[in-house]
Amino acid sequence: MKYPRLRDLEAPARRRLPPFVFAYLDSGTGHDVVRAANRAYYDGMTLTPRFLRGRIDADLSASILGQTYDAPFGVAPIGLSSMIWPGAETILAAAASRNGFPYTLSTVAGDSIENVAAAGGAHTWFQLYATKDKDITFDLLRRARDCGVETLIVTADVPAPSRRERMRIAGAPLGSRGNSSFSPRVIWQSALHPGWALRMAAMGGPKFRNMAPYADRHGNLPITSFIGQQLNGTLDWDYLQDIRAAWPGKMMLKGILDGQDAVRAVGMGVDGLVLSNHGGRQLDAAPHPLERLPAVRAAVGDNVPLVVDSGIQSGLDIVKALVCGADFVLLGRAFMYAVAALGRDGGNHAAAVLLEEVRDVMAQLGVSTIAGLRDVEINRHG
Ligand SMILES: Cc1cc2nc3c(=O)[nH]c(=O)nc-3n(C[C@H](O)[C@H](O)[C@H](O)COP(=O)(O)O)c2cc1C
Repeated sequence: MKYPRLRDLEAPARRRLPPFVFAYLDSGTGHDVVRAANRAYYDGMTLTPRFLRGRIDADLSASILGQTYDAPFGVAPIGLSSMIWPGAETILAAAASRNGFPYTLSTVAGDSIENVAAAGGAHTWFQLYATKDKDITFDLLRRARDCGVETLIVTADVPAPSRRERMRIAGAPLGSRGNSSFSPRVIWQSALHPGWALRMAAMGGPKFRNMAPYADRHGNLPITSFIGQQLNGTLDWDYLQDIRAAWPGKMMLKGILDGQDAVRAVGMGVDGLVLSNHGGRQLDAAPHPLERLPAVRAAVGDNVPLVVDSGIQSGLDIVKALVCGADFVLLGRAFMYAVAALGRDGGNHAAAVLLEEVRDVMAQLGVSTIAGLRDVEINRHG
């Protein structure tokens, strides 16, 4: 295996993508303080192994919201993944399904929920950005349900578009808030990455296939402007209540970091919470989700599943999050770097590396079940 560690895939991903596209994937917000802190949090934690427990054949299966998966992790929603590699959404959905863990399709995906659910089957989750026009939200929910999706993630932590400074510096077209035209710089960067440019051209350019049907009905706005108009700052508690009433399946709220928000959400019938700082992309002073986990757990009790993401890039990180009390974890960029670097093979490669690493770390710790990880002692340094 040429890339046995997923973090090693960041460099080839950077090489294969034009700088403005790599910045889209990689950038945090502000000075990337939280982006860096997300990593440091995991690296600053050690786990005390226990020995003399014989041979450990770890069972990685984990249950969440009434479903049992073959692994305690899944793929986080990433908007416009197909700009990184054409068909990234179906590549990852198929890999997730094949390896027995969930894939979450973003509202602003490059592909439609219909195509992705066909590839991901019962392992497909759907992430909702509540739209200004509520009919669009309800139609998205209907479509997800018609495709057999059971688990919905409603994202709460994008109250406004954030400044992704490295995208600006790289000259990325910024949609409805910035210069949406393709500048000579973007064209030049694309020309210097002909592999990427040809793949995009063959696909007919990046598309927002999930949202496209609604844009067509709303006049002649470019789709990025239409999406910019529909999202951000739309979600409030009343709207969440409407979504809860409209969604018959399980529902999680993503981006929650505060105990009172958590209690209110659970009181409204939200089944689980994703503790996240959006990979450091929204507030450059947001706490690490694991730092907030004890307070949220104390607020909602033991029966509400708490999922964690932000900064997880290896099997060891996954285990650390579970030891800290997460019930399940999501990874965003780690899967995307793999697809950016390895194309169609990226999904299965990332899955194989992560499964092997989790198994190995559990054996080193002397723990054979995911539930048993709760008893591992954590030490922090730095
Ligand atoms: C390029 C990119 C696009 C994202 N798009 C979405 C999105 O459409 N919906 C959403 O809820 N979160 C989105 N996120 C946040 C991820 O779901 C996840 O919270 C974050 O990537 C976790 O951090 P990690 O990348 O360090 O694993 C995006 C993140 C990245 C990096």
